[in-house]
Amino acid sequence: MLRKLLIGTALATTFAFSAHAEDVKEVQMLHWWTSGGEAAALNVLKGDLAKEGYAWKDVPVAGGGGDAAMTALKAMVAAGNYPTASQMLGYTVLDYAAAGVMGDLTETAKKEGWDKSVPAALQKFSVYDGKWVAAPVNVHSVNWLWINKAVMDKIGGAEPKTFDDFVALLDKAKAAGVIPLALGGQNWQEATMFDSVVLSTGGPEFYKKAFNDLDDASLKSDTMKKSFDNLAKLVTYVDPNFSGRDWNLATAMVIKGDALVQVMGDWAKGEFHAANKTPGTDFLCYRFPGTDGSVIYNSDMFGMFNVPDDRKAAQVALATATLSKSFQSAFNVVKGSVPARTDVPDTDFDACGKKGIADLKAANDGGTLFGSLAQGYGAPPAVANAYKDVVSKFVHGQIKTSDEAVTELVKAIDDAK
Ligand code: BGC
Repeated sequence: MLRKLLIGTALATTFAFSAHAEDVKEVQMLHWWTSGGEAAALNVLKGDLAKEGYAWKDVPVAGGGGDAAMTALKAMVAAGNYPTASQMLGYTVLDYAAAGVMGDLTETAKKEGWDKSVPAALQKFSVYDGKWVAAPVNVHSVNWLWINKAVMDKIGGAEPKTFDDFVALLDKAKAAGVIPLALGGQNWQEATMFDSVVLSTGGPEFYKKAFNDLDDASLKSDTMKKSFDNLAKLVTYVDPNFSGRDWNLATAMVIKGDALVQVMGDWAKGEFHAANKTPGTDFLCYRFPGTDGSVIYNSDMFGMFNVPDDRKAAQVALATATLSKSFQSAFNVVKGSVPARTDVPDTDFDACGKKGIADLKAANDGGTLFGSLAQGYGAPPAVANAYKDVVSKFVHGQIKTSDEAVTELVKAIDDAK
């Protein structure tokens, strides 16, 4: 009996050992972090995993906003070739989870108390059917202005508090011969800016009803029409070469002082950081005029696929590294975002990061934290894509009036629902 038991134990040990020995010590990650600031942020993760003995197998798919990356991911998943994890936004995580291809990190999440530290707004997208299927990396926010300080001083500008103030500021830049507004004419950038315009034009309740609840009356309202009019006004301040421009090149225009301002998510701050620029001295971060007190957010998540057993240990290592407090600080300082946990000190963050952390907390407490429709947190991908398409057609003149834009938006969203 004893002998049998011992043999059993020995066998179990051998198996356990051999299973461990065969673990693939590599993390394969699909992502769209290819700009200077993004690559610098990703290096923090690569470094942390290397310390744990994990190699990094990079699957980068360039294209801000991640549309191209999501097409590539779809093909990989269809071929049964799951990466360890993929960068994903909100509703996309839920779609893959519903398709039954995600792994289950609940055991790790429980052990590490993620449910206590990750805000509920994020858990809505990282937990599916009671199981943790994704590890939230950060919280980004889209309703920001990024302003070149020297240009601002030169034109004698002050923080714009209303949409009209903003227009007056853009006029000053124009009069001084500076490109007022740096924009990349790609649908996701235009729609990301329009998220802010809608919040500013209609206020928090309106934004929520229209872009999170998809309320028909709000979508077809005069306020939505006015939002398109305001967007059209902003587009008059863009330089003629904006079509197709990458977001980080638009940020570079502001960094260099070729343009006054960019309206963009706080990944733009990652570019200022990578260029060694300091808030208050080299650049200014203000909330999009008329949106103070509200935060339109998105969050990068590492969606965890149901990988074979020999790749699960690497996946757990990735998840643990991602949710660790030290990583959440170090990564987000470089990325421009704020931590996806509520218990990370803001000590290492610059002034814009500290503001971002405080704003997020206030918006979360006050019920003014809203998912970005352009960035995958307002509605499922089909609706978000329909939205981006209509906004872009309006910006590029294929849809000519705000009346027509509203009609097209309602129709496109209806068809996509
Ligand atoms: C992501 C950011 C990224 C940005 C530009 C957004 O969708 O959330 O992490 O930096 O796209 O690529």
